[in-house]
Parts: sequence; C-alpha cells; structure tokens
Amino acid sequence: MSGDLAIGIHDLSVATAQYVLTHETLAARHGADVAKYHTGIGQRSMSIPAADEDIVTMAAAAAAPVIARHGAERIRTIAFATETSVDQAKAAGIHVHSLLGLPTTTRVVELKQACYSATAALQFAIGLVHRDPSQQILVIASDVSRYDLASRGEATQGAAAVAMLVGADPALVRIEEPSGVFTADIMDFWRPNYRTTALVDGYESISAYLQAVEVVWKDYTERGGRSLEEFRAFCYHQPFTKMAYKAHRHLLQHCGHDADDAGISRAVEHTTTYNQVIGNSYTASIYVALASLLDHAEDLTGEAIGFLSYGSGSVAEFFAGTVVPGYRSQLRTDMHREAISRRLDIDYDTYRELHQRPTPVDGGEHPLPRQTTGPYRLAGLSQHKRIYTPR
Ligand code: HMG
Repeated sequence: MSGDLAIGIHDLSVATAQYVLTHETLAARHGADVAKYHTGIGQRSMSIPAADEDIVTMAAAAAAPVIARHGAERIRTIAFATETSVDQAKAAGIHVHSLLGLPTTTRVVELKQACYSATAALQFAIGLVHRDPSQQILVIASDVSRYDLASRGEATQGAAAVAMLVGADPALVRIEEPSGVFTADIMDFWRPNYRTTALVDGYESISAYLQAVEVVWKDYTERGGRSLEEFRAFCYHQPFTKMAYKAHRHLLQHCGHDADDAGISRAVEHTTTYNQVIGNSYTASIYVALASLLDHAEDLTGEAIGFLSYGSGSVAEFFAGTVVPGYRSQLRTDMHREAISRRLDIDYDTYRELHQRPTPVDGGEHPLPRQTTGPYRLAGLSQHKRIYTPR
C-alpha cells in the first residue's frame, strides 16, 4: 500500500430508461406555469422506466460497455448502490453479474443510504484497490425516483444508472484522500418498506442538504483539503439541477466568498446538462453530473473537481478529484447523448399507468409486456422470482 498510488475512476458509463415525460406535459396536466419547472427547479424532463425495466436492466446497460472495453479479468468486486432495491435480501448486482456473464470469483454487495451510497461504494472500492492495486472494482449506482402522483415531489422524479470502473492509475479522474463527512438523524426524506413511493418534507430536505454542505466543507478543510479557489468545477448531488446552484451559492457565502451568478454558473453549469433532462436518479445523480461535466466542459486536464454527495436521512461527504491527462479519449459522450435522445416521449396517461402498475405479489406467472428497446429486460415474475434476460 502506498500513499502515492493514484486511484480513481478509470471508466464511466451512463444509462437511462426507455421513456421520457416532459415538464411541459406535467405542467399542462396540473395547470402549472412551466417556468416553475424550467427556471424554478431547473428541470425539463424526466426518465420513466418501461414496465420491463428497473434498476437491474439500467445497471446492466450501463456496465456492459465497461466490460466490453476493459474485460472482467481484474474485477473482483461489484458494489451496487441503490435506494430502490428490488429485493430485501439478494443484492441487485448479482442479477447484473449474471446478465453480463462475469466470473464466479467475484464478490457482489449492495449498499444503501439514500442518494449518498454510491459515494460510500466509491470509497469502499478505493480501499480495496489500496489493498491490492491489481484489482478493479465495478461500482454501480442505479435508481428510480418515484413520488406520489400530483405530490410536490412529482416534478423531481427520474431514473438512471452509472457504472464506474475503479482502479489504480485511472484514465479519467484521480480521487484524492481527504474527505469531509456528515451524519445527522433527520427525517427529510424516507421510504418505509411497505411503500413504493418516497415520503418527503421538501423544504426541510433542502435545508438539511445546505446544513450538510457547511459541515462537510468544514470537516474537509480541517483534514487538509484544498481551498475553494483551487476547484475548477463542483459536482453536487442533483435532486433537481437548481439545487446544485443553491448549494454552491450557499458554500460560497458560508466561506465569505462572492456568490455572483456568473461564477456559480461557471462552476456547475456543465454538470447539469444530463440531469436536467433525466431528473433525479438518486445514487447515480452526482456521477451523472460528473459524466455531464467531462462530456461538455472545455479541456479539464489537471483540474480539480469538488464532489458533494448528499443522501437524505442524512449522510454527506465532500471530496476532490483531479482530471487525468488524456481523459477525453476515454469519454462516452456519443453513447450518453444517444441514451438520452433515444427515449420515447410519453403522455401523462401513459406515465400514470406505468406509475400505478401494481407489482404482483401472488407468486404466480407474470410475463411483462415487451416495451424496452434497451439491451436487457425484466421478462417477468415467476414464483416470486424476477426473471432478467438480454432483450
Ligand atoms: P414546490 O412546492 O413544487 O415548488 O417544491 P416551490 O413553490 O418551492 O418552487 C420551487 C422554485 O420555483 C422556487 O425557487 C420558486 O420561487 C420557483 P426558489 O425559491 O427555491 O429559488 N418558482 C418559479 N420560478 C419561475 N417561474 C415560476 C415559478 N414558480 C415558482 N412561475 C420541491 C419544490 C423541490 C420542494 C419539491 O419538488 C420536492 O419536495 N421535491 C422532492 C425533495 C427534494 O428534491 N429535495 C431536495 C433536497 S433533499 C435531496 O437532495 C435528497 C433526495 O435526492 C433523496 C435522497 O437522498 O435519496 C431528494
């Protein structure tokens, strides 16, 4: 183990769902001013999974290109972060492991703490690579954000998965050691086991997030972190993209810096391009923000990026990464744009039908309609088992 060993994100791949509901459609349905969504929360549309899609199919779609490029020989662990798990016992990553035909000599585990746990998975992966730099870890974050119809949270739904290959000598972003962390027992957002939609105190959740920003920054600084001026950009967890702007303004003001709009835009705008059309993807959101930044910003070689990961309940972490020379040749920009543009626009009634689709609980045979045009599908449920197949 060496303190000088560069460890970080070697590959990064984003997938999302089959359908998209625009905020124009939502606004027309609820008689709302669409500017509230476009300008007020910074959202234009949200990904909606087909009946035969879920966190596993999106995760496999995100991970398959990573395996195709790098092979699976060095992957010893899959860490799957989600808060919309499909089983209380079995890790969703085992279905992905099976769909992708990965070696049996792999450990697979699922991690949960609201939107934060992909960062826990990344730090866990870094620890494992420190112990054995020849290993690579497949970190997956995949979630479907769902609130009740016509609730305040409805406009902040979405769905996506991110697959990251973590290893030594990374090709994209080197993750630095100091982290500032935060935990407080706050009921700002939660989902009891018997519910399929989240419960949330929206305003409480925004202030809990901003409180976490203050604490993690202080802790990060006290642990020898970089100063604010050293960062070129900041990837925030984005439940809606305006939250990144709010959080960054709060951080600047808290540190006694000028919080001018142009400076805030420079620091966060490229991180929001994908999330403003995908919506909240919970654990995946902050790493969708990273993909968006790398895909859209001018050359970032050697630049420091700040990461602020927040998960309601609440846990948060601030850490830094440095962009590696040559990163641009590794990006999957065309694939990411295609994943977004290929989605089919649906009307409100189709969305409502998908939203209210009951999950069969009788243990019978329940084949699902063929809807997705993605590479993997949930073919059905049989004797309480989820059956996944390539499409
Ligand atoms: P709301 O009641 O729909 O909206 O709730 P609002 O009335 O607060 O308006 C939102 C913004 O739009 C405001 O801007 C309005 O002024 C503006 P702000 O004051 O905040 O800057 N606005 C307009 N702008 C232009 N033209 C107009 C117009 N009308 C209003 N005509 C809320 C919004 C986000 C609270 C709601 O959607 C919600 O509860 N969402 C879910 C919770 C959430 O996303 N919380 C974020 C922090 S917690 C978190 O990030 C964790 C999470 O991802 C879960 C996890 O960790 O697992 C949620």
